[in-house]
Amino acid sequence: MTPATDNFRFAASDCRAMTLAIQPVRPADVDAIAALAREIWQSAYADIITPAQIDYMLAQRYNAPRLLDELAAPGYWWDQAVVDGERAGFSSCYLSGVAGELKLDKLYVHPARQRGGIGGALIARVLDHGRAAGCDTLILAVNKQNARAIAAYEKSGFAVRESVRVDIGGGFVMDDFIMARSIPQATP
Ligand SMILES: CC(C)(COP(=O)(O)OP(=O)(O)OC[C@H]1O[C@@H](n2cnc3c(N)ncnc32)[C@H](O)[C@@H]1OP(=O)(O)O)[C@@H](O)C(=O)NCCC(=O)NCCS
Repeated sequence: MTPATDNFRFAASDCRAMTLAIQPVRPADVDAIAALAREIWQSAYADIITPAQIDYMLAQRYNAPRLLDELAAPGYWWDQAVVDGERAGFSSCYLSGVAGELKLDKLYVHPARQRGGIGGALIARVLDHGRAAGCDTLILAVNKQNARAIAAYEKSGFAVRESVRVDIGGGFVMDDFIMARSIPQATP
């Protein structure tokens, strides 16, 4: 069974130890998650998509009713990374509808906390969900220009499977790679 919370001791880049906990997102967390998403998106996507597209996608994906629906949906998992008591990132994943396939839908770490192993710890938790659900494949979509995220995904064992352009309404498109990796059946 997937534990609700794991605590890790990490050596941060300045050599102080940090305590990282991966915890399920609760309904009371949705406003803070949306605010953290805005902060990360404005940094991560500033050179990739327009401010109008950032606003459009944040409104579409991080409105409170939608987040609350996702938290309550079966086959959907939201987790948050808490570092020294402070929310530093989050992930979500869901059963895609294809047999044996889990989709990593969101993976976001605060800019000040990136390259500290938090993204990797969130991916490990996503793999736990997939393993517990009997999935063997984890997929995701990533903007083709998002070199930082692609590098992190490649480090985690993902490879590009296909290229897609998806109309998301409002005159906007997502120009993405679909990446995939296997889900090992035993915890690595
Ligand atoms: C992608 C993201 C979640 C990775 O999280 P992270 O906490 O920085 O990742 P980790 O520290 O676990 O990094 C794991 C490995 O990925 C690779 N990696 C991560 N960031 C990288 C970067 N900027 N450049 C090159 N490699 C990188 C490295 O190999 C790294 O291991 P190392 O630091 O020991 O060399 C984070 O950069 C992020 O939130 N980016 C902005 C939002 C985003 O683009 N999300 C993805 C949407 S699809």
